[in-house]
Amino acid sequence: MAGMIPQSFIHELLARVDLVNVIEKRVNLKKAGRNYQARCPFHNEKTPSFSVNPDKQFYYCFGCGASGNAISFLMEYEGQEFVAAIEDLAASIGLPVPRDALAQTNQFDQNLFEVMQKVSQYYQQQLKQHPEGKTAVNYLKNRGLTGEIAKQYGIGYAPAGWQNLLTLSKEQEKFQKDLITTGMMIKNDNGKTYDRFRERIMFPIRNRRGQVIGFGGRIIDQGEPKYLNSPETPLFHKSNALYGIYEMRRQLRDINQIIVVEGYMDVVSLAQYGIYNCVATLGTATTEEHIQTLFRMCPTIVFCFDGDKAGRAAALKALNQALPLLKETREVRLMFLPEGEDPDTMVRNHGKDEFNHQVENSVTLFDYLIDYLTGQVDMNTFEGPAKLVHLAKPYLQAITDQILLMRFKQRLSELSSLPLQQLDKFVDEASPIHQKNTTEIQPPAAEQKPSARPDSANKHLFRRTIALLLQYPQSLPDGDYEWLENLEEAAANILNQLIKLITNNEKLTTAILVENWRDKEEEKGILKLANMDLHTEEQGVTKELTEIFSRLKKLQIIEQWDRLIEKSRLGYLSEEEKLQLKQLQVSMTNLSE
Ligand code: UTP
Ligand code: MN
Repeated sequence: MAGMIPQSFIHELLARVDLVNVIEKRVNLKKAGRNYQARCPFHNEKTPSFSVNPDKQFYYCFGCGASGNAISFLMEYEGQEFVAAIEDLAASIGLPVPRDALAQTNQFDQNLFEVMQKVSQYYQQQLKQHPEGKTAVNYLKNRGLTGEIAKQYGIGYAPAGWQNLLTLSKEQEKFQKDLITTGMMIKNDNGKTYDRFRERIMFPIRNRRGQVIGFGGRIIDQGEPKYLNSPETPLFHKSNALYGIYEMRRQLRDINQIIVVEGYMDVVSLAQYGIYNCVATLGTATTEEHIQTLFRMCPTIVFCFDGDKAGRAAALKALNQALPLLKETREVRLMFLPEGEDPDTMVRNHGKDEFNHQVENSVTLFDYLIDYLTGQVDMNTFEGPAKLVHLAKPYLQAITDQILLMRFKQRLSELSSLPLQQLDKFVDEASPIHQKNTTEIQPPAAEQKPSARPDSANKHLFRRTIALLLQYPQSLPDGDYEWLENLEEAAANILNQLIKLITNNEKLTTAILVENWRDKEEEKGILKLANMDLHTEEQGVTKELTEIFSRLKKLQIIEQWDRLIEKSRLGYLSEEEKLQLKQLQVSMTNLSE
C-alpha cells in the first residue's frame, strides 16, 4: 500500500510539516532545551518521558519506545491508516496529494469502510425492526444485556434471507464486489453470490478508530457453528484485531491494565457490569502483534483463561508470545477462572466484586512460569534440579530484557542450587544462536589475518555510521562512496541506501530518512539507531564520519582481498580478477604501514 503514493511526495510532505505543530494540537507539549517534552500519549505515565526533536522531526518515548515521524504519530495517535495519515498531514498545510495515487489506495479502503458501516447500521436496525429481531433481543436480554450496552457495542441482527445486503445500495455491481471483498457476501463455485451471515446476532468488530472491519455472528441458542466470523479481508486481520478496543478507549481515559478474554460475550457482559478495560482475541491464540498493541496502551496485561486443560495450554502459548516483549516496566499476569466458568458467567453469577477479586489474585507470568517448570520435575530427586534448568533453557533464551533475565536466572539458581556462573555457561553453551556464531563467523585459523577486525567490531562500526547519518544527514562528507557496494555485510547495504538518499535529496531530516524503511524488516533496527544517544556534537560528526569511512574502505579492501585469495586457492581467478588482486596487493601494503 505504501508504494502507491510516490516516495518523493512523502519526502516533500515530511520536509514541509512541522512535527511539533502536529503533536502540539493533540498533546500538551513543554519546551525542554532544544526539544519538547510531554507525558507519553502512548502509554500511561506520571512523569514525562516523551520527547519531540524539532531538528530531527522525530519523537521518542524513553518509557515505551514509541517513536517515529509525523506520519507515524498520526497513525499511532489517531489510529489512522497510512494513507489517511498522509492525507491529513497534507491537508493541514494545503498540499494536494497526487490524486491518481490515492485512487488506488486510500479511496479503496475508505470505500470498504463505508460499506461495512452501512451493513452494520442495517444489522442494528434489523435488530429493532425485523420480526425475527424480537427473538434476538429476548436472547440478549436473557443474557443480561441492556439496550444501552447493545447500542454501545453496535450489536445487530442479520435476518434470514440470502440476498438482503444487496438491497442496501443502488450501485448493484460495485456494491456486490465490495461485499465480496469485505467477506460479507460469498461467491460459490457456481458463481452464485449470497449473504454470509443469516439469522445471527451480529457483533461488529471495530478498529481503534471505531471503523467496522469485520463481524462475529452468533447463532441464537443452539447450532453450528456457534460463532461465524468474517474471513481475512483487506480490512480485517485476525492476528492483530482485538474485539472491544474502540469501546474500551472511548469509555476510559486512563488505562492501567487491560484484561484479555476469549469471547465477544465476555467483553460485552463485563462492560455491562462496568468492567470496561477488556478486549477479546477473535478465536485465535494471542499473537505478538496483539501484545504490542496492548502494551502501547498500558503497562499491565492480564490474560484471563478458563481453569481447564485448554485454558492452561492457551496460557502457555500467551506466555511464549509475551516473554520476549517483557520489560522491567511491563507486566503480564495470568488469571484462571474456576472450571466451567467464563468471564461472562463469572460476572453474572458471582458479580463484579468477585470478578475483580479474581483479577487481583492473578499471578505474574514469571511466577506462573516457575510454578509450571517446577511442577514438571521432582525437585527431591538427584536429577530434579538439573532437569529444571534444562526445561528452563528455551524460556531463558526468549527473555530479552536484561534485568528480567538476571532475576529469572537468580531464581533458577536458587531453586537448582546451581551457581549463577554455571547456569550462565550452561545456557550459553548449548544455545543454538551461539553455535551458529561459532561455526559461521569464525574463519579458519590459517586464513585469519592480523588486520581483520572481529565481526562484532565491524558491526558496531556500521551501526554507529548508520546512526550518525540518520541523525545528522547534513554531515555526510563529500566524496565517492561506490566502493561501499563491494562490502558484503547486510548493514553495508543499508548504509549504501542511506548515502544514496542523502546525496540525492536536499532538506533531509531523520524523519524523512526513516520513512524509507516503513513496514520493512529493518524498520525496528533503523528506529533504534535513529533514537540512539550518540554522545556527540553536530560539529564533530563530519570528522568522525570521515575517519569511519576511511576505516570501512580499508575493511572493504581486506574483504575483497580475502575473497580473491580464496578464489585463487581454488583456481577460479579470471584474468580481470588477477589484475584486481595485483592492485589490491598495493593497497594492502599501504594499509599495513
Ligand atoms: P466460546 O465458545 O467460549 O464462546 O468461544 P463464548 O464467548 O463463551 O460465547 P457464548 O457465551 O456461548 O455466547 C470463545 C470465542 O471463540 C470464538 C469466538 O470469538 C468466541 O467469542 N469462536 C467460538 C468462534 O469463532 N467460533 C465458534 O464456533 C465458537
Ligand atoms: Mn460464554
